[in-house]
Amino acid sequence: MGVKNFTEETLTAEVLRRIEGTPDPRLKQVMTSLVKHLHGFVREVRPTQAEWFEGIKFLTETGHWCDDKRQEFILMSDTLGVSMLVDFINYGAAGKATESTVLGPFFVEGAPELAMGASIVNPGTVGDPCVASGSVRGADGKPLAGAVIDVWQGAGDGFYDVQTTNGMNLRARFRTGADAKFEFKCVKPTSYPVPHDGPVGRMLVATGRHPMRPGHLHFMIDAPGHEQLVTHLFVRNDEYLDSDAVFGVKDSLIVDFDKNADGVYAVHYDFVLKPARQTARAA
Ligand code: BEZ
Ligand code: FE
Repeated sequence: MGVKNFTEETLTAEVLRRIEGTPDPRLKQVMTSLVKHLHGFVREVRPTQAEWFEGIKFLTETGHWCDDKRQEFILMSDTLGVSMLVDFINYGAAGKATESTVLGPFFVEGAPELAMGASIVNPGTVGDPCVASGSVRGADGKPLAGAVIDVWQGAGDGFYDVQTTNGMNLRARFRTGADAKFEFKCVKPTSYPVPHDGPVGRMLVATGRHPMRPGHLHFMIDAPGHEQLVTHLFVRNDEYLDSDAVFGVKDSLIVDFDKNADGVYAVHYDFVLKPARQTARAA
């Protein structure tokens, strides 16, 4: 078998042959598919050398923008719809359970655990006052005590704490009691742009897209014996619901944020978790 003098037609098969001995079967599957699709992409696009180098520079710059506060690769995955595709594959059909959506780059481990009813808003934060309440239940409707609810959001000016300060703000953890209810004070979410001062922002401009996300409140909910739920509540009537820059909106997650007589907004949602899966990965 020839091992040199490859042509455009024979090269892909030889690259695939060289990785045939990959011991880990999952890695072999991933690498085989990656090579096939990458070669297919290059055959279709037929880049010039200069264009290929532009691509390399773009990915290099994307890496350089990443640190513990900024994850430009997650942003690229989000804005190209890949994060939602991975979410569809892994969370699957929700059935009676609450639908999931994209995690995004602004979740931070270690937010303070607060007492039910507490405020997640530091003094001086921009935004209209809002109370979020609801419950956490299983698909059988039973209240889930001991559910851990992480919440996070941007301020009324559209910025998350990690974008503007060193301290934690507008994020917290709550734990449900026997009634499985939750309540906390926050600000009414507003639409805001995903970070667009880097390479992903240039990609959005170059492809004629805006960087906006409709206003939303993030939730990550864990309860014993149940699958983790990562989701948002979106503000009804937000002008960006139909063009979310990261493709995360689902009808079932659009809710009313009603202004009460005292000028405080209120949102209510009863979350339903799926039972834990028996296997690590669906067949
Ligand atoms: C967010 O929801 O905060 C977000 C999600 C994806 C990309 C950027 C921001
Ligand atoms: Fe967000």
